[in-house]
Amino acid sequence: MKHLLATDGLDPALATAVLDTADELKHTLLGREVKKLPTLRGRTVITLFYENSTRTRVSFEIAGKWMSADVVNVSASSSSVNKGESLRDTALTLAAAGADCVIVRHPASGAAQRLAGWLADPGTSVVNAGDGTHEHPTQALLDAATLRERLGSLKDRRIAIVGDVLHSRVARSNIHLLSALGAEVVLVAPPTLLPYGVESLPVTVSHDLDAELPAVDAVMMLRVQAERMHGGFFPSAREYSIAYGLSERRQKLLPDHAVVLHPGPMLRGMEIASAVADSPASAITEQVRNGVHVRMAVLYHLLASEGAAA
Ligand code: CP
Repeated sequence: MKHLLATDGLDPALATAVLDTADELKHTLLGREVKKLPTLRGRTVITLFYENSTRTRVSFEIAGKWMSADVVNVSASSSSVNKGESLRDTALTLAAAGADCVIVRHPASGAAQRLAGWLADPGTSVVNAGDGTHEHPTQALLDAATLRERLGSLKDRRIAIVGDVLHSRVARSNIHLLSALGAEVVLVAPPTLLPYGVESLPVTVSHDLDAELPAVDAVMMLRVQAERMHGGFFPSAREYSIAYGLSERRQKLLPDHAVVLHPGPMLRGMEIASAVADSPASAITEQVRNGVHVRMAVLYHLLASEGAAA
């Protein structure tokens, strides 16, 4: 694997190999006081974030450090981007400085793909850590890892993705990955928060959360992305919460084995009730924990495995 830019088109066998590696790494490190593997000694990983992040940036940094890579964090707000430097010049500068891998988050859909084109000559790997409303592939991989742990195989599992699908790169990456791994995906959202062309995606669509919950194996609540709603938010926050929030009453509609996911950051009380987010059915903390192992596995497949240069 040379880059990880999207789950759309990602070979399911490669995705499964990454998930298996993450699982192995998790079990290797389990209970160890010193979490350090020599695998990426001498390799340099740079995170380049043009948007805020807690989970993704921190877990990539920990993942790189646990594998002995040198990890450098660049945030646009404290770099020469603030003086007007372009994304291309910034990327070429990081590659010239010695980056083996650049992990990029950017508000523009397609930014990671452009970066991979510009860095083809120095041969630097690129990971998409979220580009606009397009994709967030490592989030989908960590969600799949968490669902595999809780449910076993994803084949024929029914997974509801609920809420602001329109603006969600997490939803898009999960739709492609979960369906490639054999799951059945149902999008539950108001018509105003579904993307144009939704009928071409491998999903079914519903506007009735109460009707869907009794028949799902997992429910993935989405963050409402107010920062991308320049024309205002319709339905209102109150209407949204009433129709699409995962309340304690709604949680009772789920089968006993069903898993509750949220990529974070959560708007407690609006997208999901605190009692649900903190309940035994919730795998939200496990998602974060698995994010480190999945990102270690991604770095391994990019920089250390036999197929790394392919
Ligand atoms: N899920 C996710 O991408 O979280 P951050 O924005 O905190 O990285």
